[in-house]
Amino acid sequence: TQQRITVIKGDGIGPDIVDSALQILDKVGCNFAYDFADAGLMALENHGELLPQETLELIEKNKVTLKGPLTTPVGEGFTSINVSLRKRFQMYANVRPVLSFKGTKARYEDIDIITVRENTEGMYSGLGQVVSEDGSEAEAMSKITRAGAERIVKFAYELARREGRKKVTAVHKANILKSTSGLFLKVAREVANQYPDIESTEMIVDNTCMQLVMNPHQFDVIVTTNLFGDIISDLCAGLVGGLGMAPGANIGNDCAIFEAVHGSAPDIAGKNLANPTSVILASVQMLEYLEMSDKADAIRKALKEVIESGDRTTRDLGGEHGTTDFTQAVLDRL
Ligand code: NAI
Ligand code: MG
Repeated sequence: TQQRITVIKGDGIGPDIVDSALQILDKVGCNFAYDFADAGLMALENHGELLPQETLELIEKNKVTLKGPLTTPVGEGFTSINVSLRKRFQMYANVRPVLSFKGTKARYEDIDIITVRENTEGMYSGLGQVVSEDGSEAEAMSKITRAGAERIVKFAYELARREGRKKVTAVHKANILKSTSGLFLKVAREVANQYPDIESTEMIVDNTCMQLVMNPHQFDVIVTTNLFGDIISDLCAGLVGGLGMAPGANIGNDCAIFEAVHGSAPDIAGKNLANPTSVILASVQMLEYLEMSDKADAIRKALKEVIESGDRTTRDLGGEHGTTDFTQAVLDRL
């Protein structure tokens, strides 16, 4: 049966870069059927809400969604759409691979690191948020559960096995955050024992940041809690040329959403200037999830050739071309 994909083109540069990814998926013969759904500003205009019921139903029905960046209006009491989606569909794993290409302005040329970030607990659980009446004190609760830690660490090891990776590093701050990070580390060690075929290491988060900048090649797969994963994955994106190069997948037991990590870039929207690499790589992650890795490899290879040869690349990569020319350069190689 034909695989149906829910597609949220998103706001700002979203429609341009998502169209680019869809053309490439079609070119390699994926034969997907697309159901287009609105979310973000577009949805607010068309349906009066940021995340309409029809969109939620399509995400649930098709199980697999490709999503462009969304604009969440600031200061109008709206909660982040991305956070709502993660909670609603219990997408507990946020998988953020970074891969460097030669000939870009990036600091390193041979980085290949996957950050697996716990997506539902920790400092982002939203629990116990209190600000005292006079505004002089504020509190928030960080919650780690054994079940939550176990499923994310197992997820990281299973991913490592599946993708032939050698090493998993558990990142923590158990020396100070003894209860929460302590539980995470304890569970990480237990899970590590179940995977003797993979090298397991652990590292404290502040040292990890320094090590990532000084000697990033020691890392392979990183698994960590929510807040640390948020920060570390952006640091990793910086090693390979910035957020324009970084995709992310939100994965749960039933549903998965694949997206660009960056925002809707209102400053360049509608100008045909956006680099579609992040969302193309998100669609590569989607193909791997769907066990279509031959097609994923083909797209990754074509993208690499275009970026490394500088053939019709966008301005952020040092080129002079627009989104459509860049896309055509990738299509020409497929
Ligand atoms: P942004 O990521 O949209 O832009 C930051 C800078 O990077 C801008 O100069 C932009 O032109 C550039 N940039 C981003 N993506 C690019 C691409 N593909 N090619 C070339 N240049 C690119 O961050 P900003 O401006 O802080 O946020 C804009 C909007 O996006 C906000 O409404 C924010 O809420 C939303 N946002 C949505 C996210 C999501 O849906 N996953 C994530 C982050 C922000
Ligand atoms: Mg972030």
